[in-house]
Amino acid sequence: MEKNRDVIIACDFASAKDTYEFLDKFTDEKPFVKIGMELFYSEGPEIVREIKKRGHKIFLDLKLHDIPNTVRKSMKVLSNLDVDICNLHAGGGTDMMKAAIEGLTRDDGTRPLLIAVTMLTSIDQTRMEEDLLINRPLADVVMHYALNAKNAGLDGVVCSPLEAGKVHEACGNGFLTVTPGIRFADGAVGDQQRVTTPARAKEIGSDFIVVGRPITAADDPVYAYRRCIKEFAE
Ligand code: C5P
Repeated sequence: MEKNRDVIIACDFASAKDTYEFLDKFTDEKPFVKIGMELFYSEGPEIVREIKKRGHKIFLDLKLHDIPNTVRKSMKVLSNLDVDICNLHAGGGTDMMKAAIEGLTRDDGTRPLLIAVTMLTSIDQTRMEEDLLINRPLADVVMHYALNAKNAGLDGVVCSPLEAGKVHEACGNGFLTVTPGIRFADGAVGDQQRVTTPARAKEIGSDFIVVGRPITAADDPVYAYRRCIKEFAE
């Protein structure tokens, strides 16, 4: 089955002004954008409403992690904001993930997509063992969390593009993989450790790639975005 791939631009800006200045460069297309904690905490829900009003799809990357009742009620608020994708930490457990789905589901049965962060990519095997006292191979933990998310009714996970194939094997092809850590073959890697090109992410089977600085810091962001679309989504 041909996949419905898309490129999500990580709008990691500190203010609404910088964000709108960036988005105003796009006159012919309306990219899917990711709003993270920094922008949301500095500008509040109004930034979501405004970007939505401008016609963009929104992945609101707030990574909820709390008791089920609190997550249920918070997800209801995000659902009313009409975002397209939101997320939580699978480490919050199955009951929390089920509560999140309940909170997100509107009276008419529709809801934003919900995806889970499995294990943060800043946690490696040693940190997991020493800080979290989890003594299993990291790859197994990631796959177990992905399966928990699927069984709780979630739509997918955020993961490395290098893990996307394995996640699809374990959770099915319809389970979404949303993958950051993307760089052009001729681009700077920056602080990302394990990176993949848009073309390779397509081969491995990512459903969405999340691209920040290769687009936001490019001399010509619109050209860089189109290059991502061409390599990944066409
Ligand atoms: O600028 P860059 O392309 O590295 O941005 C990637 C985006 O994806 C950032 O918003 C970053 O916080 C996010 N992200 C990531 N790695 C993860 C999860 C999220 O880079 N494991």
